[in-house]
Amino acid sequence: MKIAVLAETAADETRVAASPASVKAYIGKGLDVTIEQGAGDASFYSDEDYKAQGAKIAKNATSAVKDADIVLSVRRPSATAVKAMKKGAVVAAQLDPFGDRKDLDALAKAGITAFSMELIPRITRAQSMDVLSSQANLAGYKAVIDAAEGFSRAFPMMMTAAGTVAPAKVFVMGAGVAGLQAIATARRLGAVVSATDVRAAAGEQVESLGAKFVFVEGMQDSATAGGYAKELSDEDKQKQAELVANHIKTQDIVITTALIPGRPAPELISKDMVETMQSGSIIVDMAVERGGNCPLSQAGKVVEHKGVTIMGYTNLPGRLPGNASQLYAKNLQNFITLMIGEGGDLDINWEDEIITGCALTHDGKAIHSVLEKK
Ligand code: NAI
Repeated sequence: MKIAVLAETAADETRVAASPASVKAYIGKGLDVTIEQGAGDASFYSDEDYKAQGAKIAKNATSAVKDADIVLSVRRPSATAVKAMKKGAVVAAQLDPFGDRKDLDALAKAGITAFSMELIPRITRAQSMDVLSSQANLAGYKAVIDAAEGFSRAFPMMMTAAGTVAPAKVFVMGAGVAGLQAIATARRLGAVVSATDVRAAAGEQVESLGAKFVFVEGMQDSATAGGYAKELSDEDKQKQAELVANHIKTQDIVITTALIPGRPAPELISKDMVETMQSGSIIVDMAVERGGNCPLSQAGKVVEHKGVTIMGYTNLPGRLPGNASQLYAKNLQNFITLMIGEGGDLDINWEDEIITGCALTHDGKAIHSVLEKK
């Protein structure tokens, strides 16, 4: 069986879907691995590193995927790559299942069995395959480091002969995977940290990291059975906005991570709220790619509004490509291992909830419920 690993084509994508360690593991299972030339360059994995583990290097995407049974990438494979794939090939990547439908239909039409890594179910057995967690964790860390770099003051309290430096006040909105890592990182740097979420269960986790949990009194718990958030009622939105407006004017740094699966990101910080913040404050809008938690943030840009810097970096995990690729490659390796039979052949168990939870297309059809709704 042959695995192909594509080089990414998106301009800001630095990650790669295989590491030398994952290549070694595939080859150890008796598979052939072909890497598109230069695929690992931006993650500091050279073609030589892959070759040293036994991989072959292909000149371009077309020759990499030709005859491949499994194709791995970080984002959607290009139309050129899809065209060159054989019918029945498996693709595993972050396919952006709620995004533009056209490319997904093209995968179905080409007879590809496509798995969207964002849809891996959040069950214990699948934790080691959970790309949303592995990438959001790094993103939460990087958001705080970016904020600290752009901040004109220090994070920790310092008592010096020339006076006391007050600790930075950091407010994290959304205490999921990224938010919890942002809290932990800001705490490690010595900041005074507070956080909010619409899921009441997040309170205990926030407090266990030494931060203060800010929650609207009497608000309905907005957790779904799957552990994700759902949209707030208009009344709760209003209550939350009042709480945020009061809290935010005393904060130096605000990191926003709030997302609702399959929906645009909720607006949490209005223009008026930004204008109450002190000059020199920083907002990092981690939800910018899904519309943003602040209407002033711009995808891929750092903008300033009345002295407040608003960072809208896209692909935050890609700003730490070394670790992001290492963990993403391992997530994929764990997932692909599920479908390799005893004899090293392709053996997909369509009864397995991990497989059915993230399979988007199969046998010429779009098969996932997220695609039915569109
Ligand atoms: P996410 O990336 O979808 O959203 C980020 C955070 O924003 C969430 O905590 C969400 O509750 C919050 N949020 C949404 N709307 C908000 C609003 N209006 N105001 C404030 N906060 C808002 O979430 P993520 O990080 O993927 O985590 C979701 C849940 O899944 C968590 O409970 C997490 O602990 C759980 N989880 C479970 C795993 C497993 O069992 N294998 C693995 C990873 C996470």
